[in-house]
Amino acid sequence: MHSFRYSGKKFFCEGVDVQALAEKFGTPLYVYSQATLEGHFQKLDQAMSGVEHLICFAVKSNSNLSVLRTLANQGGGFDIVSSGELQRVIAAGGDPRRCVFAGVGKSEEEIEFALRRGVYSFNVESEAELQRINRVAAGLKKVAPVAIRVNPNVDAGTHAKITTGTYENKFGIAFEEIEGVYARASKLKHLQLRGLQMHIGSQLTDVKPFELAVRKILPLVERLKAKYALEFLSIGGGLGIVYDPALASGEEVWWETPAAKKILTPKTYAERLIPLLQPLGLRILMEPGRFISGNAGILVTKVEYVKRTGKKNFLIVDAAMNDLIRPAFYDAYHEIVPLRQKAGVKVASDVVGPICESGDYFCKDRPLPKLGEGDLLALLSAGAYGSVMGSNYNARPLAAEVLVNGKQFAPVRERQPVKEIWAGEKVAAWLK
Ligand code: LLP
Repeated sequence: MHSFRYSGKKFFCEGVDVQALAEKFGTPLYVYSQATLEGHFQKLDQAMSGVEHLICFAVKSNSNLSVLRTLANQGGGFDIVSSGELQRVIAAGGDPRRCVFAGVGKSEEEIEFALRRGVYSFNVESEAELQRINRVAAGLKKVAPVAIRVNPNVDAGTHAKITTGTYENKFGIAFEEIEGVYARASKLKHLQLRGLQMHIGSQLTDVKPFELAVRKILPLVERLKAKYALEFLSIGGGLGIVYDPALASGEEVWWETPAAKKILTPKTYAERLIPLLQPLGLRILMEPGRFISGNAGILVTKVEYVKRTGKKNFLIVDAAMNDLIRPAFYDAYHEIVPLRQKAGVKVASDVVGPICESGDYFCKDRPLPKLGEGDLLALLSAGAYGSVMGSNYNARPLAAEVLVNGKQFAPVRERQPVKEIWAGEKVAAWLK
């Protein structure tokens, strides 16, 4: 997929010069490539063609309406975690009957809304939640389709803040307890036991933990299927992507290079999992977020100041941790490239935002070309957990977003008007 690359000295998204977008829409600016979204969806879809399956895009990774519509048009379903996300899917033209509703804290209102809209399944995280869904369904004279999330206690070997498959965290029901929970759930009249779900973590760059987890739950799935006529097994999301080109070779589109392929591709994922999954005769659901949206988006930012202190070269840019929090929060690596390629020596630079926190940085001591005020940069691989984790910290408006399709482009989110930030606030009457 050649969606973000230099052509001559200019950095392009598909057929569009990104600098032209920055000039038209301002910065900070998220730019998404439709071809990359579609390409990644299709790659996974094709790789998994050996089993009946449904790809439920994890809306939490990128919930822009145009991104959701792109994936709905591909025939995708959605993994949602709030009624807000379900409403987004509906607003984007997605089908609630292709949605799975996950999350440890579903409220009664959320459950009722999802039941009325007819979601495909609730992915349930506790017995108390089963009771609650049963009660709400009874009130509506409905039967709620559910899948229970099994925690297979497999270490995904990923960042501590995004690992979910071990007993150290709040997710799912312990492997050893799950059959008892199904037995009790089967007595609840307003539940239909439709599937089993698991998700072991995010940004997995090795197929082994997936394989281990699937192997571990197979006998359990077979028993549950025989007893309760389950329809599906969800193997969750978590496929990692390449953030750091140092892990790949020096080719242009580094997340598609042979070295990157060794890390984890849909092909490897499917080759190792399909032989295990196929004999189950179940529909297989997946919940990828980052794999589809991660490398389909960049964050464009402008250098405001170059500041040299005794030891350091700071590039102070107009994007900040409120726009992309991953480096501050997870120490995440995002490749940074200038929109106009520059030859010459590289300078160890810290790219930092204007927010009053030392954590507000995008990289430290990274060799970057010599840049000056007004130069534009792109932070790559920002399509997943980028804009969605944005905030108004320091009263900074949420960034604008643009979708590119070939030579076409469209603004898909306007820059938030500053006054909207406090539109819901009031000065208490006694202060006046
Ligand atoms: N399914 C479940 C139940 C999940 O909890 C998640 C992500 C996914 C699917 C999608 O995972 P993915 O395919 O995108 O890895 N903000 C963090 C990532 C948090 C992931 C939360 N759960 C980051 O920026 O790395």
